[in-house]
Amino acid sequence: MENRVFIFDTTLRDGEQVPGCQLNTVEKIQVAKALEALGVDVIEAGFPVSSPGDYNSVIEISKAVTWPTICALTRAVEKDIEVAADALKYAKRKRIHTGIGTSDSHIKYKFNSTREEIIERAVKAVKFARRFVDDVEFYAEDAGRTDNEYLARVVEAVIKAGATVVNIPDTTGYCLPNEYGEKIKYLIDHVDGIENAIISTHCHNDLGMATANTMAGIMNGARQCEVTINGIGERAGNTSLEEIAMILKCHKGLGLDTNINTKQIYPLSRMVSGLMNMPVQPNKAIVGRNAFAHSSGIHQDGVLKNLTTYEIMDPKDVGIDDNSIVLTARSGRAALRHRLSELGVNLEEEKLNSTYEQFLKLADKKKEINDDDLLMLVGADIAQMNHIKLDFLQVTSGVGLQPVASIGLNIAGEKFTAAATGNGPVDAAINALKQIIHRKMTLKELTLQSISKGSDDTCKVHVQVEHEGKVYYGFAANTDIVSASVEAYIDCINRFHNIEK
Ligand code: KIV
Ligand code: ZN
Repeated sequence: MENRVFIFDTTLRDGEQVPGCQLNTVEKIQVAKALEALGVDVIEAGFPVSSPGDYNSVIEISKAVTWPTICALTRAVEKDIEVAADALKYAKRKRIHTGIGTSDSHIKYKFNSTREEIIERAVKAVKFARRFVDDVEFYAEDAGRTDNEYLARVVEAVIKAGATVVNIPDTTGYCLPNEYGEKIKYLIDHVDGIENAIISTHCHNDLGMATANTMAGIMNGARQCEVTINGIGERAGNTSLEEIAMILKCHKGLGLDTNINTKQIYPLSRMVSGLMNMPVQPNKAIVGRNAFAHSSGIHQDGVLKNLTTYEIMDPKDVGIDDNSIVLTARSGRAALRHRLSELGVNLEEEKLNSTYEQFLKLADKKKEINDDDLLMLVGADIAQMNHIKLDFLQVTSGVGLQPVASIGLNIAGEKFTAAATGNGPVDAAINALKQIIHRKMTLKELTLQSISKGSDDTCKVHVQVEHEGKVYYGFAANTDIVSASVEAYIDCINRFHNIEK
């Protein structure tokens, strides 16, 4: 059996489906180019029939990227397939990913259909897609809960119809690793013609087993796995790309390879987290802030004597370089450019100059500038183009005082001011803001990320605001906690303003 495992990245499709994580086309191109540099084999760029934005992104990503196959998702519906084929017209290598639910629950409740009819629809969709492209992947949605014997019949039929890849999604994240591994083995042992297609895993993390299930699939013969950066995706997310890539790299005994340049993992993880406003949990494997931090005395002692005592991988292998130059107010433009490019951000001269000016201002306020600060500065530059900008904020608060805030906003060039009280400084500032912006908005969550390196450190704030039944995610960072909270709130408002535009 082949020892190469193909990496199919669905950050821009399954990952981007998460409410509040939507990216615009320019941001998607930035991620797609970084995925190409990372070495993924396939980029699932979107679901073209679902929205003009998705359609456009598939077109633009197809133009921007050379080596990876560009894949577009469809239902087993002719119109979807035609639109996907059209969106893929500029792709150098292209794939249509079509499919239908195969579990009894999907067949009965979603399609009000029968097992036989579902096979017919699957075959028809694959044959139709093959009229447009040579590479057709079929997904059997909810395969995790589909009876193996029936699943084998579906898989055999779609391979005969021309499917080159067959995806076995554990859509609900229900399977146990041994169960999922046995499912893949069952297909390999029972499907006539299985050697004519690659079996793909697509696991969700509802019970925290996505990576274990993907590995079970691979060890039983799957040779493609569908993954996302930082494991983002619907509900509890998808399998993390970085986890699979590093498992295969660390466990050389498995004899399996990928094309991933693992040194690009960390910069890309930061890029995706920043663009999607989706913080990475500190203890997240491979890319979390604490993934390589040894705090217990026994561990520190061991690591200082020899890294291998407690480290199974070198942080440098995933692109974390502890010896990287520390940036301070004395650092020059070249050092800034170098560090940004290590983080996967390559700026044009003009943008570099403006970021450098902001960098010097921040470096005056805090001694050392870390990677988060840099990504925040690059993001703040983009925020300058926003519809609503914070002009000023003044807050008085303290023990025995009623918190009062006055705020100035610049809305598309027009200036507005207001003042209000609240039960704390953030509440007062948001009350003042709401006197200018009369929209129905409810703050659902506000998370302040810890200050890790002293009282002069930058505070990062993530907020979720509900507006007209939808939740929007905002982010800001500032050395002032109240300003960061209000800026993150304004970031959310700009997001729903951009969508409504
Ligand atoms: O989880 C799933 O079943 C999917 C399919 C559409 C591939 O994302
Ligand atoms: Zn999925």
